[in-house]
Amino acid sequence: MFSRVVRPSLASARSFSTSKQNNVKVAVAGASGGIGQPLSLLLKQSPLVTELSLYDIVHTPGVAADLSHIETPAKVKGFNGPENLKKAFEGAEVIIIPAGVPRKPGMTRDDLFNTNASIVQTLAEAAAESAPKALIGIISNPVNSTVPIAAEVLKKAGKYDPKRLFGVSTLDVVRANTFVAELKGLNPLEVKVPVIGGHSGVTIIPLISQATPSVTFPPDQLKALTERIQEAGTEVVKAKAGAGSATLSMAYAGARFAISLIRALKGEQNIIECAYVESNLTEAKYFSTPLLLGKNGLEKNLGLGKLSDFEQDLLKKAIPELKKNIQKGEDFVNKK
Ligand SMILES: NC(=O)c1ccc[n+]([C@@H]2O[C@H](COP(=O)([O-])OP(=O)(O)OC[C@H]3O[C@@H](n4cnc5c(N)ncnc54)[C@H](O)[C@@H]3O)[C@@H](O)[C@H]2O)c1
Repeated sequence: MFSRVVRPSLASARSFSTSKQNNVKVAVAGASGGIGQPLSLLLKQSPLVTELSLYDIVHTPGVAADLSHIETPAKVKGFNGPENLKKAFEGAEVIIIPAGVPRKPGMTRDDLFNTNASIVQTLAEAAAESAPKALIGIISNPVNSTVPIAAEVLKKAGKYDPKRLFGVSTLDVVRANTFVAELKGLNPLEVKVPVIGGHSGVTIIPLISQATPSVTFPPDQLKALTERIQEAGTEVVKAKAGAGSATLSMAYAGARFAISLIRALKGEQNIIECAYVESNLTEAKYFSTPLLLGKNGLEKNLGLGKLSDFEQDLLKKAIPELKKNIQKGEDFVNKK
């Protein structure tokens, strides 16, 4: 299901030629954070980005000055504090949002809701005003709820386009590719595993039956692999022992997704990524599936494909949790 072209090159920009048609302004909100800084570095390294706008409530002048010395075309500007938010987003074609608090050991992604919900709300309000046509990728957790929050905010502003709002679930795909490659002795660059559903615990549904190359596992190994993918974020949270959650792998995944959006925006064909979007394919109003990306964002939802019995069971477990998370996000905006 995944084409070979989905994996963006994050290699040195100096090996690429640049041309005018590549002009793209990308804004990162939460740019000084554990994800924000390496994500901004990877975006600065891409020749597809010509302007990089870094927004945070702290430290952006320093991060921007530092990145601006890198010998790649992107002009880097830092915007610090709420009074500069709208300027940061102005004219952005792509906005990536890793703003907000991360998990500590023992926390679920839903435990972050109280803090991150209002951060995402504020950022979505600014996007509606300053960059209503931007493609928005939300990394801030709980993604299952923060995407509905952003959608409700954009709807209120009359600026919602379901083809332009994405929850970034790329890290789940990246992890699934890596773990399958490890178990089967394959080159991870050659492995493509679609991951559907949402982005937390049981809502993460890896479709091992649709992996390329085709792989099979005995039932106990399949169950263990699936649970490892679902709980991989927690593996990192525990290993970091209070210092946060995945930042470097998430920066890689966020850059991969942002660059795929940009490549599609610029007319490249056959760009496919899984992401969490408004969807009518299941009972959950938002659901991640492989998406064909195009000049206007989501061009075609490629659907769930044929699920194995094991995956059908995972789907059954995911839907009630997803529906609850979505309702919570919508209520946050509408029942205030
Ligand atoms: N989608 C995923 O797969 C995934 C993976 C890992 C982490 N995350 C989430 O990403 C988020 C960020 O994680 P992190 O490790 O970078 O956290 P962090 O605390 O290191 O960085 C967060 C940054 O957001 C900034 N921030 C706070 N309030 C803000 C506001 N109102 N406007 C703009 N910026 C603001 C902070 O100043 C900080 O620089 C967390 O919610 C985390 O759970 C998502």
